[in-house]
Amino acid sequence: MLQAGVWKDTDGNFINAHGGGILHHQGVYYWFGEIKKGKTWLLPDQKMECYRVPASGISCYSSKDLKNWKFEKIALSATVSDTESDLDTSKVIERPKVIYNQKTKQFVMWMHVDYKDYSYAHAGVAVSDNPAGPYRYLGSVKPNGQDSRDMTIFKDDNGSAYLIHASEDNNTMYINQLSNDYCSVTNQYIRISEGKRREAPAMFKFGKKYYLLTSACTGWSPNAASYAVSDSPLGDWKPMGNPCIGPFSETTFSSQGTFVLPINAKNGKFLFIADRWNKTDLENSRYLWLPMEVKGDIINITWSAKVPD
Ligand code: DGJ
Repeated sequence: MLQAGVWKDTDGNFINAHGGGILHHQGVYYWFGEIKKGKTWLLPDQKMECYRVPASGISCYSSKDLKNWKFEKIALSATVSDTESDLDTSKVIERPKVIYNQKTKQFVMWMHVDYKDYSYAHAGVAVSDNPAGPYRYLGSVKPNGQDSRDMTIFKDDNGSAYLIHASEDNNTMYINQLSNDYCSVTNQYIRISEGKRREAPAMFKFGKKYYLLTSACTGWSPNAASYAVSDSPLGDWKPMGNPCIGPFSETTFSSQGTFVLPINAKNGKFLFIADRWNKTDLENSRYLWLPMEVKGDIINITWSAKVPD
């Protein structure tokens, strides 16, 4: 596993799976991510750094060892010349995440779907009977009428699942409980980090506690990560500060988080999965995966040239 340079799949092609997430199912890791393809657009006169690439679908790679990644398929395809569709190449799809629903036996994917200028701010959902897909798009929502941009999903041990999304024009993070089939949101939600402008949420559990990592909101430029701890997903979240330690911790080692993967969760060993955006040439963005250790309330992410065994 490399942390810099170009990561290639088992066919020798560049791994194209940005803003991604990993599903661990029956001994296989499935990595889903945005296919970033084509020339980066720079949209004029926008509040946020408006570099975008057209929606090109969601990719899926599989691996048994987190080192060798086989391209499986395009898990969710974009549509061409269908401007009514959320998945049209005139729009953007970001940060796909997949969880498995034990009751419905379906794999459920949530993602951020948007117009180029981010004015649509919807969360889209798709399902499949197979982990790698293809996924069937069900549609998108503004959860409880609120906008939804950077997002993730989290499945708890008891089967409850949550959509975590940046809302109120990226000012406030929402944690929203999903329905039993994980395909819609319920009206059970909380607002956290009010006015703090956090993006790139990644939630995980260690012991009895829940942790939420986020970035600041600086477009595609890296900034300091921060995290919060709670006794329950819809509980009181206590802000904890930057989990990164040492040189370049103020820029999350030049990256922005997207997911936390349990490696040996009982012993507090996780993998912090992040993107190194190349904002003027987004398809040439890179990845950074770092070992992450949790002890009690404390998360440590340190620079390492080596991924844990
Ligand atoms: C950083 C986010 O986390 C990305 O997913 C994307 O929304 C960009 N900002 C847009 O500026």
